[in-house]
Amino acid sequence: MRMIEEHDAAMPSPPKPSPATPGAPDYAWLNGRLVPFDECVVHARSQGAFWGANVFEGLRGYWLEGEQRLSIFRLEDHLRRLRCSMKSLHMPLTYSDEEIAQACFALLRANDLKADVHLCVVAYFGLGANLDPLNYTDDTGMHITCMLAPRSRGFTHGLRASISTWRRISDDTMPPRIKTGANYHNSRLAQHEAVRNGFDTTILLNQAGNAAETPGACVVMVRDGRLVTPPGTSGVLEGITVATVEQLASEHRGWTLERRPIDRTELYIADELFVCGTLVEIQSVVEIDRIAVGDGAPGPVTRTLQRLYEQATRTPGLTGWSTPVPAAEPRQRSVA
Ligand SMILES: Cc1ncc(COP(=O)(O)O)c(C=O)c1O
Repeated sequence: MRMIEEHDAAMPSPPKPSPATPGAPDYAWLNGRLVPFDECVVHARSQGAFWGANVFEGLRGYWLEGEQRLSIFRLEDHLRRLRCSMKSLHMPLTYSDEEIAQACFALLRANDLKADVHLCVVAYFGLGANLDPLNYTDDTGMHITCMLAPRSRGFTHGLRASISTWRRISDDTMPPRIKTGANYHNSRLAQHEAVRNGFDTTILLNQAGNAAETPGACVVMVRDGRLVTPPGTSGVLEGITVATVEQLASEHRGWTLERRPIDRTELYIADELFVCGTLVEIQSVVEIDRIAVGDGAPGPVTRTLQRLYEQATRTPGLTGWSTPVPAAEPRQRSVA
């Protein structure tokens, strides 16, 4: 029998530590309990740490000024995708969705951050037999961390992007649909190359030479009045934000989002281009390969979608997508 502790009014958080990591919040959540941020550690030889054998979700908590609390956007959808990633890797399910949600709430309450945050929920494989990272193990664990996530300059000014010399991983080699840390080696190569070359971000082409995604976001093009994004079968993560954009565009403006392959040169002649993802939200791409997109400034469709997204994320009850962090609830449960 495993005891799940909820650190709340009845069970106060551990004494406030002073983290050695600058800018870090006070607490993290590791395998069932809140720990000082710097004690959120897994063994160096765990498969999760050694080979990136983990699955994760990045979520955003929006600070609601009126309610003076955080609200997690599309929590259920992120947990559903986490389950899909786990299933694909034969990863046993250690915690229920409800327990993970409660852990996120407890973490946010303990850190008491009164601003927008980004949460990372990570399920990892532990030590395999004989410390062999290739041996299957059902030893798994979970950690959850959060950090302040203010908007970057790109949200208002737009981004300058390149087309990466690196190709996006594909479903027959490293499936991007599975959100595992190991996939981000490909993202790192591409992002670091782009930054070294003076760009803010980069668009990776897939194995067929069509646009796939950026290192951490989906790509949407506006061309001849139509919104277009690569399909989920083109070597991309099936984005939750792009699905949000699709629904908002359709419900509020009657715009449809077409999912079809996008050629590299279509990006050069697009009217507008933007990237979207939980962390970046919606950011305009104003230049691609040093060619201005449209007139080189964030366009009206992107601006409209940014406004609709802002409304959806900060108005709980408007869409059913927001989960406000509940006030502490004194209780302790046991789980068989
Ligand atoms: C590689 C990649 N593509 C796309 C996305 C956008 O996905 P979502 O909108 O679900 O955050 C992300 C964000 O995590 C990502 O890492």
